[in-house]
Amino acid sequence: MKKISIAIDGPAAAGKSTVAKIVAKNLNYIYVDTGAMYRSLTFQAIKNGVDLQNEEQLMELLDKTEITLEATENGQIVRVNGNEVTSEIRNSEVTNNVSYVAKHKLVREEMVRRQQQFATQGGVVMDGRDIGTHVIPHAEVKVFLLASVDERAQRRHAENMEKGFPSDLEKLKEEIAARDKLDSEREVAPLKKAEGAVEIDTTSKSIEEVVELIMSLASERIR
Ligand code: CDP
Ligand code: CDP
Repeated sequence: MKKISIAIDGPAAAGKSTVAKIVAKNLNYIYVDTGAMYRSLTFQAIKNGVDLQNEEQLMELLDKTEITLEATENGQIVRVNGNEVTSEIRNSEVTNNVSYVAKHKLVREEMVRRQQQFATQGGVVMDGRDIGTHVIPHAEVKVFLLASVDERAQRRHAENMEKGFPSDLEKLKEEIAARDKLDSEREVAPLKKAEGAVEIDTTSKSIEEVVELIMSLASERIR
């Protein structure tokens, strides 16, 4: 059967990774969480005291930073130079700084180069901000997921509560809106709907409904 590429973009907490993982599992494709790559570099930069505004220093660090994503039964494991960082890269310090790292042109070029290597054979579901516009613009299926800021903050809040993490809904709203703004207004590869992408507003949709919509778009292209 033909193996296609599926690009899923959208703002923070729109449900990209949740649905991307399920679609990848259904199709037996690999899932590439590109946000985890920018988060991993941000984590390393903070740990090593690298100035996040200094592109040259960030590039030096990225050169020495091997990022691996491994899908397991219990979810994705992210490693930096062999050390697991799966939960650390989701902490609020990384979350609130990652957009400053992701705005640099050279950083993005290197990340895109690494991401494109995953997609050479097809059979990939990749999520992020610039997947349909820059990383795999030839993807057979491109999706742009949306949801209101309130809904997205609620989702992250519910997720935090479930995990027993401290969570402040109003603060989450502000942080999500701030990150959306930085990601949409940056000069290099800003967050935007790719040409030919199908927009899905997930505000009042369940995960299953969104997965079903993407699976039907995929099956049209696999045939
Ligand atoms: O899951 P969430 O929406 O919170 O974020 P993420 O997908 O893990 O991405 C974290 C950050 O990485 C984003 O806010 C962007 O600044 C950056 N990013 C990017 O610039 N390009 C991508 N393809 C993926 C993420
Ligand atoms: O990857 P991204 O940041 O776009 O979002 P996510 O981490 O996949 O989803 C954020 C939260 O929203 C998760 O807890 C999902 O279970 C939830 N979600 C939902 O409630 N309804 C959807 N249609 C999609 C996701």
